[in-house]
Amino acid sequence: MRIDILSPLPHLLKAPFSTSILAKAIEKKIIEIHIHDLRDYTKSDKKQIDDYSYGGGGGMVLMIEPIARCINKLQSSRDYDSVIFMTPEGKKLTQNICNQLSQEKNIIILCGRYEGIDQRIRDIFINKEISIGDYVLTGGELPALVLCDCIIRLLPGSMSNSSCALSDSFQDNLLAPPIYTRPCNYHGHKVPDVLLSGNNKKISEWRDEQSYVKTKKNRPDLLEK
Ligand code: ADE
Repeated sequence: MRIDILSPLPHLLKAPFSTSILAKAIEKKIIEIHIHDLRDYTKSDKKQIDDYSYGGGGGMVLMIEPIARCINKLQSSRDYDSVIFMTPEGKKLTQNICNQLSQEKNIIILCGRYEGIDQRIRDIFINKEISIGDYVLTGGELPALVLCDCIIRLLPGSMSNSSCALSDSFQDNLLAPPIYTRPCNYHGHKVPDVLLSGNNKKISEWRDEQSYVKTKKNRPDLLEK
């Protein structure tokens, strides 16, 4: 899989891809990440990529040309399954959307900044708008990283134990059950006996029950689905 991320602040995107599971996935060639600085696609001497909003209004708006130039260049080299714009106005990100995107081959992610982007970018190029939640960040870079992280960990070979991704919270509309490691007794706080019993059937039943109890307490809305 290949993901191209377009941003006015590309340095914000680099660190998460340089350690741990994401870095290993890149090293193993499971994923290719290409980060593009939108200022490299402006023809203005001052590297201008934003301008005032037609009709007035406070903030600056990302201009159409640099973004269009970058997307056109990418699309002339390969077909892209999704061209995604990260925005609080988009469809709310779910595990289901991540599962679907993890099946795609080439994805472009556009990060907004300032007051927003020229509407014509959305009309011409964007086929998915995604929000990571009902709150507003200063830009789309952190949301883009959230999206990439969720997708990459689903790709076969990226996690040492691929069954992990399937037992995640939300994969079946249930939150994950509690987990424990050594010591089995920490100042009187003991690991539940069933987990030490070696009885796989009982362990599995206990985990299902705990998942249900946690979901009912923290996210009853998931049980209504
Ligand atoms: N940009 C700013 N806030 C955002 C959000 N909640 N989701 C996606 N992109 C954003």
